[in-house]
Amino acid sequence: MGPRQMSTSENAHRVLQRNRQPGGYTVPAEGLYPYQWCWDSGPIALGWAAAGDWDQAWTELERLMSAQWDSGMVPHIIFWEVSDDYFPGPEDWGTQHDPPTTGITQPPLPVTAAVRLCQQDPDRARAKERFGALWPKLVAWIEWLDRARRGPHGALVVVHPWESGMDNAPTWDGPLGRVPAIDELPLARRDLESVAASQRPSNEEYRRYMAIVEALRDRGWNTERQAEDGPFAVEDVAFTAIATRAASDLAAVAPELGQDASALEASATRLRSGIAALWDDEMEWFRPYDVRGEQLVGPATATGVLAMWANAATPAQAHAIAIRLGEWSEGLKYGVPTCDPEHHLFEPERYWRGPVWVIVNWLVAEGLSQYGFDAHAAEIRAMTSELVAAAGDSEYYDPRTGEGIGGRGFSWSAALTLAWLVP
Ligand code: DGY
Repeated sequence: MGPRQMSTSENAHRVLQRNRQPGGYTVPAEGLYPYQWCWDSGPIALGWAAAGDWDQAWTELERLMSAQWDSGMVPHIIFWEVSDDYFPGPEDWGTQHDPPTTGITQPPLPVTAAVRLCQQDPDRARAKERFGALWPKLVAWIEWLDRARRGPHGALVVVHPWESGMDNAPTWDGPLGRVPAIDELPLARRDLESVAASQRPSNEEYRRYMAIVEALRDRGWNTERQAEDGPFAVEDVAFTAIATRAASDLAAVAPELGQDASALEASATRLRSGIAALWDDEMEWFRPYDVRGEQLVGPATATGVLAMWANAATPAQAHAIAIRLGEWSEGLKYGVPTCDPEHHLFEPERYWRGPVWVIVNWLVAEGLSQYGFDAHAAEIRAMTSELVAAAGDSEYYDPRTGEGIGGRGFSWSAALTLAWLVP
């Protein structure tokens, strides 16, 4: 008799265990992403909690927040153990920070994760103690975002596509296309050694990604001025939605900690109206605003849906989005695609230009439920379960076939399998 087949949840737990490092943090995927990534840490912490390892769940977020800069900025990668597997590495960023980190941030999803740990940890004394220690840091992150990144509509500005977490979404083509590319990449791209080039950003995009890094580095990584210093500044919907939830989630638990919630509530309200201002009436979608190009940009992509997660859509807008999402899934085996599949920029295999992501489906389903679309949310959850059961915990999936693509043994897909998909 052959070995017993592992269940989806055993498999997911195994992925997290394999990706956990002796330093107490969990990498997104071995080889491809060998460091601690900021927004990945949020779902990863929830995954450890769902697996019953509350100590690791808290540790994950504590490690991340221990790398926070004095300004309140939480870096998008922390280079805890230097590895040759990833480009651009600490020397390319040159931030001079200890521990070595990049000099840009990512969506503050770890804040909401910390609040959920605080609410759900069965050991109430531990929850109070560990969340209490994180509190000032989480608040400082939100304060920094609100202070240094507020854009002309009141939504938050990302200064690099990497900050959005949705690196090569078609959304960024316009504003990124205006950034003068550097001539040559200083190092060979390491990502292409494990993932097919057809599933990753192009070299052309990398030459512009590195041009933004160089521009911000030349200005001394001044985290108060990056929206002015860099060649790329776009008010993003999903980034702002995640920050809005972070602020309102912190406000909701503030009284329990004897903290004043009013400044956080005010932040959440301001950010929510910033998102509201990014609604495009004609396209019937929330779209990012390019500050330099002075226009809303890109086709309908995943970033716009996340307005619902922040309760920033009106019921009529939420209804229009839900209908459109249903239409997107017609003709595809699995949803939710990360770009309108009818649009000419849709690429079903290429990273953030079309593939299905577990993280996106989770946030979309939660957003739909908040507006009462429970059956639609349940459908997305069931479809995602089926996808993961068939293709494992991949980085993303081809919506036409369900094939797992990008990195394999991927932590946040595994973590959300445990925290969201397994009953
Ligand atoms: C990458 O290297 O692809 C990462 O997404 C950057 O954060």
